[in-house]
Amino acid sequence: MISAVPATQLSDRHFRSIAQLIESQVGIKLPAAKRLMLEGRLHKRVRALNFSGIGEYVDNLFEQGQLELELTHLIDVVTTNKTDFFREPSHFVFMKDVAVPELLKARGRKDLKVWSAACSMGMEAYTAAMVLDDMTRGRTFQYRILGTDISTAVLALAKAAIYTHDALAPVPAEFIKRYFLRSRDRTCTEVRVVPELRRMTNFMRMNLMDSSYPVDRDVDIIFCRNVLIYFERETQRKVIEQLCSHLRPGGYLMVGHSESMIHSVVPGLKQVQPTIFRV
Ligand SMILES: C[S@@+](CC[C@H](N)C(=O)[O-])C[C@H]1O[C@@H](n2cnc3c(N)ncnc32)[C@H](O)[C@@H]1O
Repeated sequence: MISAVPATQLSDRHFRSIAQLIESQVGIKLPAAKRLMLEGRLHKRVRALNFSGIGEYVDNLFEQGQLELELTHLIDVVTTNKTDFFREPSHFVFMKDVAVPELLKARGRKDLKVWSAACSMGMEAYTAAMVLDDMTRGRTFQYRILGTDISTAVLALAKAAIYTHDALAPVPAEFIKRYFLRSRDRTCTEVRVVPELRRMTNFMRMNLMDSSYPVDRDVDIIFCRNVLIYFERETQRKVIEQLCSHLRPGGYLMVGHSESMIHSVVPGLKQVQPTIFRV
């Protein structure tokens, strides 16, 4: 039968099945307004796999065994990975001026654990690493940073820690000098995070929708920013409660500035600032 839907477009049925799949596996809602974006992004993948059109790609996805093979790629297609160094900088000011001094004072601790959940390409994790490393100068404490994300594509970039020089625009000049390596070849536009910070930072794949997280339960600060906004209210509640169960008493959770509504989703949370919570 010849399909009336052009090869570059999704039929209603195909859009619904992908949207349901993504919401159940990743937690991300795909409203009708995202259809064009999805078609555009899927088109590249469809061509790479030599399918005749998006319809054939989606039908194939639901054939036995195919989803397992393709889900990682599909997740890479639907996730929005926008991030920056020092994004929403007030969180890093709070971390430096309030959270870290307080956490270190509590019981004379000498080590700190920070988790960037939904870390995308690693800029959030490395920003925390720069701020903490700077704070360790002349003081005796250590820190470890964990970055997790569902997308294997962004995790590969985070592990490589190679960025374009343009991405350094929000980074203070002194930190650029101290924490990034530049090629001797001055025509090269890439920089790499120094090994001292990379050694303190680990990345692993983790789905926030999972029923348990393979992460320590004594984390001091969790950044979970600009991902909750894509989830349904009930998913937001479950994710936040689960994240908080990995914080040590007195630990902090920071969410994105468009996500302060989680206060009403999990009423038991102590709100320190609109987007900063404490357990
Ligand atoms: C917009 S980026 C935010 C990056 C960073 N937190 C920031 O604020 O700059 C959202 C990230 O969430 C990740 N993500 C989406 N759904 C996820 C899930 N269910 N579990 C883990 N990560 C997820 C995406 O892959 C993407 O890298």
